Formats: sequence, structure tokens, C-alpha cells
Amino acid sequence: MTALLSLQNVSKRFRGLVAVDQVSFDVPEGMIYAVIGPNGAGKTTLFNLIAGAMVPDAGSITFAGARIDCLSADAVCRRGLARTFQLVRPFPALTVEDNVVVGALLHRRDVASARERAHDLLRRLDLSDKRGQIAATLTLPDRKRLEVARALATEPKILLLDEVMAGLRPTETDRMVAILRELNRKSGLTILLIEHVMRAVMALASHVVVLDHGTMIAQGAPDVVVRDPAVVQSYLGAEAG
Ligand SMILES: Nc1ncnc2c1ncn2[C@@H]1O[C@H](COP(=O)(O)OP(=O)(O)OP(=O)(O)O)[C@@H](O)[C@H]1O
Ligand SMILES: [Mg+2]
Repeated sequence: MTALLSLQNVSKRFRGLVAVDQVSFDVPEGMIYAVIGPNGAGKTTLFNLIAGAMVPDAGSITFAGARIDCLSADAVCRRGLARTFQLVRPFPALTVEDNVVVGALLHRRDVASARERAHDLLRRLDLSDKRGQIAATLTLPDRKRLEVARALATEPKILLLDEVMAGLRPTETDRMVAILRELNRKSGLTILLIEHVMRAVMALASHVVVLDHGTMIAQGAPDVVVRDPAVVQSYLGAEAG
């Protein structure tokens, strides 16, 4: 399997704090991978580095065969890497549909074609009946699905999801899991997700990367990783306690 996304010894320091410390892993095309770890482990920082929002202090990031670690967030997005934000950021005054149209205009020249793409995505994300609603008035589960639709509108090869299940009830989590699985199966979309909700990780990911204090302490199949004593100690144990 070829790696669509590859990280080699990626590090990021904030003054004295090493937020990401020599992290290396590959995400093969067509797979769903998860990044887990306790609060402050460096997960969002890792996404910021991959998505071009921050520049690594060391290491390299390769996407679809080319180095991307010196590119701007906009350039990385144009190459086919889209991300959602932990704190969702729709344009609050725009309708649900127009929020998605804005993303679709990245690759589509005319508004009609962008709107067509938006309609298709709103259907897939179960938001068609809310498409005329102002984004600011959406409930949390709807806002989370809008965030995914907005990211998908840019026609990515890989989708980075930062805690899209956080704060959802179990039925809403299951709905999101089903939608993401469908996107992966039907469109071959590669997904890298940061997630604290372990039932979602177990249901979706074929491979899990575990960060703790910026360091990758384990990686592997989800059922193996959750039994790893170092992982239980740093994360799962802490969550259970
Ligand atoms: N822009 C920044 N400037 C300084 N320190 C930062 C910055 N961003 C993150 N940090 C610090 O880096 C560490 C990693 O933060 P990060 O947000 O990546 O963690 P996380 O794993 O996403 O945590 P959470 O599960 O709470 O979202 C934390 O100690 C955080 O305070
Ligand atoms: Mg985070």
C-alpha cells in the first residue's frame, strides 16, 4: 500500500514545551486512521502541522508524493487535504448551503456547479432539510456535520477530523460513524481522525496512533493498542479513573 500521507520525525516546540516530539507514521490511501491521547498530548498541534497552519521545527511531511511542510494552509488544501476544527468554525450568518458552496468554489469556477456539489454533500451529511437555515442556529450535532460537509466541499483526498464526535450523544455518534464509513467505502476517502470517543475509534479506525506529551507511545490495530500497558496507563486508565 502506498502512503498518501507520511510524517517523518516531525517536531514542534512552543518555547520550552515540546508539543510534538519526533513523530513518524504513514497513512495509506483509502484507510481510516485515528490519533488518540490525553488532553494536551499534541494531537491538534499535529493536525496544524499537517494542514499547513504551523511549520514544523524539524522533520518532513509528505502528501501524495510531495513535501507539504513548507506550504501555506491554503496551498495544502488545494492539493487535496481538508481539515475540520476542534472548535467548529462555520460562517455563522450564512445559510447551511452557502457555507458548503464557499468551500466548493475552491475547485469549481461557477456558482451553479458549486451549488450542485453542495446539494450532493448536504444529502450525504443528512443536512438537506436544513440547507436554508442560518448556520448559527444549528444544534451541535448539525454543526459538526456541517463542518464535515464544508471540509468535503474542497474535494479532498484526505480528511482530517479533530474531535467531530465530541459532545454528541451516542445515537448522534453512531450517525456520524455511519456517514464517515460510507464516505470511506463509497468514495475511497482517506480519513485521519483525532477522537476521544473510543467507541467511534473502535468502529472506524483500522490503525491507531497514540500520543502522550508529544511522543508517539504506541501504534497499531485498535484492539491491540487499547490493551497496551503504556496506553492504558497514560490515557485509558486516566479516563476510567
Ligand atoms: N499556539 C500554541 N502556543 C503555545 N502552546 C501551545 C499552542 N498550541 C498548543 N499548545 C500547547 O501544546 C500542547 C499540546 O496541545 P494540543 O492542543 O496539540 O493538544 P491536544 O492533544 O489536541 O489536546 P486536547 O485533547 O485537549 O484537544 C499543550 O500543552 C498546549 O497547551
Ligand atoms: Mg486538540
